[in-house]
Amino acid sequence: MQRFQCPANIVTGDGTAGAVGAEAQALRIARAVLVTDKVLRAQTDSVSRVVAAVQAAGVAVEVFDDVEPDPLVATARRSAEFARRLAPDGIIGLGGGSPLDIAKATAAILANDTPLDLMWGVGNIPKPALPMILLPTTAGTGSEVTPNCILTDIKPDGGHMKKGIVSPHILARTAIVDPLLTATAPPAVTAATGMDALTHAIETYVSKSAQPLTMPLALEAVHLIGKYLRRAVANGSDLEARRNMANASLLAGLAFANGFLGAVHAIAMAMGGQFNVPHGIANALILPYVMEFNEMATTEKFARIAAALGEPIRGLSEREAARRASAAVHQLVTDVGLPHVLADVKIPEDRIPGLAEESFGNQRLLKNNPRSATVQDLTRILESAAGLTR
Ligand SMILES: NC(=O)c1ccc[n+]([C@@H]2O[C@H](COP(=O)([O-])OP(=O)(O)OC[C@H]3O[C@@H](n4cnc5c(N)ncnc54)[C@H](O)[C@@H]3O)[C@@H](O)[C@H]2O)c1
Ligand SMILES: [Zn+2]
Repeated sequence: MQRFQCPANIVTGDGTAGAVGAEAQALRIARAVLVTDKVLRAQTDSVSRVVAAVQAAGVAVEVFDDVEPDPLVATARRSAEFARRLAPDGIIGLGGGSPLDIAKATAAILANDTPLDLMWGVGNIPKPALPMILLPTTAGTGSEVTPNCILTDIKPDGGHMKKGIVSPHILARTAIVDPLLTATAPPAVTAATGMDALTHAIETYVSKSAQPLTMPLALEAVHLIGKYLRRAVANGSDLEARRNMANASLLAGLAFANGFLGAVHAIAMAMGGQFNVPHGIANALILPYVMEFNEMATTEKFARIAAALGEPIRGLSEREAARRASAAVHQLVTDVGLPHVLADVKIPEDRIPGLAEESFGNQRLLKNNPRSATVQDLTRILESAAGLTR
């Protein structure tokens, strides 16, 4: 049996952030906490505009803006503590994946007696979270439509580890995807988050758990990102590029929430935890190497990915066409100026075994990867990303 889950309301279009007040009213929210970050609050007007739109609808709102990129579990606890004092009946998340995930954790903690520690993994939140409205400001994570919340935990030895909560109880009630919110994202953020969205699309398209509904969404996202990411990075006020990237991220989010991710995310999560590499950068770095590894498991799909990325594949054999997909992604990573080898993100070769080991622990993700991957396989992928075997 397959199931496709997503928020009940997905609102898209230029300027739709202004509808947040009406959307809050429609959910019968009278008192909300807005979760966001300090960069957005200080350097853009999106926080003040969303607050004004919420207040104009007669909804009371307080702002929690203390969310760092790739946030810690402790941040979720602080946000929940802040929110609890105000006893809200709804949570609004505004930001990249980091504030959106903290909004989800906050909404889950407030609606449940279960401590956060018992919510890790799949299906471990007993009751629905408070109603949430999520507004992404990056075209990347798709968190506004996924049932996932990714946080960084501190292990007893002081090391960091990324962990996930997956539950339909943390799906937003309403996602508002307003491309204008992404227009202020600087090129480096646009590049990294766009590559995260591409990774969602490609991993889901080739996933063993792909569904009839997820594959067209994923392939269209690949096409849009191949066509518009360079433009969005080159010129942040190119609204056509921003619009298409926002839609691509949404499509990829809907796809991966239901068709699931694979080895790239398994490795990227370990890299994020152990080396504090931002999520999108870790994905961008690893994606083409995992594509090379996966190619022989599902050659036809990789040939279609190459075509979706705009590669000229007419006249090529299926295998040659498939090879064009990873080559195109290598080129895209270079063009948008992201790190391409492990040394670029200061990961020394002697840490590869430990990284491979932790990546292998992410079986929730690896089980969807089209090619079975052992610890040795993951080690080899990391070695090629270190430039050792290419
Ligand atoms: N829940 C999910 O389904 C899901 C999926 C993928 C990733 N994630 C998680 O999301 C997090 C990463 O989120 P992200 O990549 O969107 O980045 P982010 O939220 O960490 O933001 C990165 C930086 O960009 C800035 N920024 C964001 N939008 C901006 C804008 N419009 N203008 C100016 N600056 C802006 C932020 O202030 C921050 O400094 C990671 O923790 C990752 O694990 C979650
Ligand atoms: Zn991701």
